[in-house]
Amino acid sequence: MQNFARTVKQSQTTITELMIPSYANFGGKIHGGILLSLMDKVAYACSSKHAGTYCVTVSVDKVEFLQPVEVGELVSLHASVNYVGKTSMIVGIRVEAQNVKLGTIKHTNSSYFTMVAKGDDDKPALVPELILENKEEVKRFIECMRMKEIKQSVKEKMDDARSQIEVNNAETILKGERCKIVFKNEQVTS
Ligand SMILES: CC(C)(COP(=O)(O)OP(=O)(O)OC[C@H]1O[C@@H](n2cnc3c(N)ncnc32)[C@H](O)[C@@H]1OP(=O)(O)O)[C@@H](O)C(=O)NCCC(=O)NCCS
Repeated sequence: MQNFARTVKQSQTTITELMIPSYANFGGKIHGGILLSLMDKVAYACSSKHAGTYCVTVSVDKVEFLQPVEVGELVSLHASVNYVGKTSMIVGIRVEAQNVKLGTIKHTNSSYFTMVAKGDDDKPALVPELILENKEEVKRFIECMRMKEIKQSVKEKMDDARSQIEVNNAETILKGERCKIVFKNEQVTS
């Protein structure tokens, strides 16, 4: 198959967008949803460049808004494919907001989007291998491998914990928590 390995650089993508007043919330800061939408776009652009196909978002990890973004700032989203599986890719996204007048740049968040390549039959499609050209790229690939393992183990623990929740014992479990149980005509089964 031709060209079935690509470097990280080949798909690296940056989108820059001006934060306009209609993106702001009632507090005058930029809505988190606007930033998420831009992150989804850059993750799509980056993953589809690597895969050479249409891609879909399957999972989003580590979304934290570390600092508010202001109207008038230039937001740049830098995306790289950090890891590839068979049909999935983990795209790391770094978001920075630049105040051109003050000459400042702040790091507002970093996230990981898992994207899956789709073939013409709409089924997951094999993606090219990733060529790692420096230690940083190797480190990121291994980090994502570990992240996948940890996610799987958290999922199993959570499924287990969920299956063991006893709602009928809630008074004891919730002691000291900041909630009140006020059932209205509801039959609770454990
Ligand atoms: C993503 C999707 C194609 C996966 O389909 P599937 O039948 O589970 O296919 P598979 O089991 O073969 O999984 C495909 C890949 O996705 C990965 N994957 C599936 N669920 C995942 C999850 N929750 N988190 C991370 N990766 C996941 C699998 O590990 C696999 O990766 P690999 O091929 O690199 O090993 C399917 O769930 C889908 O189409 N989802 C809707 C996506 C969408 O519309 N997104 C827009 C957001 S609204």
